[in-house]
Amino acid sequence: MAAPDPQEFRQVVGLLPTGVTVVTAFTPDGPAGATASAVCSLSLSPMMMLVCLDRGSRTLEAVESADRFGINVLGLDQRAAAEVFATKLPLAEKWKAVDWQSHLDVPVISGCPAHIVCGLHEVIDGGDHVILTGDVIEVEAEPGEPLVYHGGLFRRLDPQES
Ligand SMILES: Cc1cc2nc3c(=O)[nH]c(=O)nc-3n(C[C@H](O)[C@H](O)[C@H](O)COP(=O)(O)O)c2cc1C
Repeated sequence: MAAPDPQEFRQVVGLLPTGVTVVTAFTPDGPAGATASAVCSLSLSPMMMLVCLDRGSRTLEAVESADRFGINVLGLDQRAAAEVFATKLPLAEKWKAVDWQSHLDVPVISGCPAHIVCGLHEVIDGGDHVILTGDVIEVEAEPGEPLVYHGGLFRRLDPQES
């Protein structure tokens, strides 16, 4: 059997629809944050979350030293934030693009339909990424439509419920 083609792998995994989040943590110089779709719930009791971050992510370094992180669930109207937090712009530049506040020692982006604050539980090897698990410290939600990512495009949910 032929080895799987890396380009096809990227294309196929991109077909999994996901929500879009910005994972955040404080560095000594200010907030860090990265757009992340590899985010899911891990355990209900105890409440835990799972996030996968690239080994080269500056936000990963920030999470590891801060020992806690925020997961900001982006809304449909926050596509610009998704795009800016996916860049390697200087950290301060990224944060000029959004309103935010420090909450429970993590940076929280204003206007998100939901955010979750986690204490870092474990850092697990995941190839060129690492798997962060987190103990949930706080969850908060407001009404709002989520931003969705699928096939390399930002999308909205079909408002028709089945
Ligand atoms: C829709 C979308 C989803 C992404 N999901 C992830 C992810 O789950 N994990 C990750 O490490 N990077 C992900 N990225 C890429 C990071 O946002 C990007 O590498 C960013 O520049 C990291 O910033 P940092 O170095 O300041 O942490 C995603 C990018 C986009 C546009």
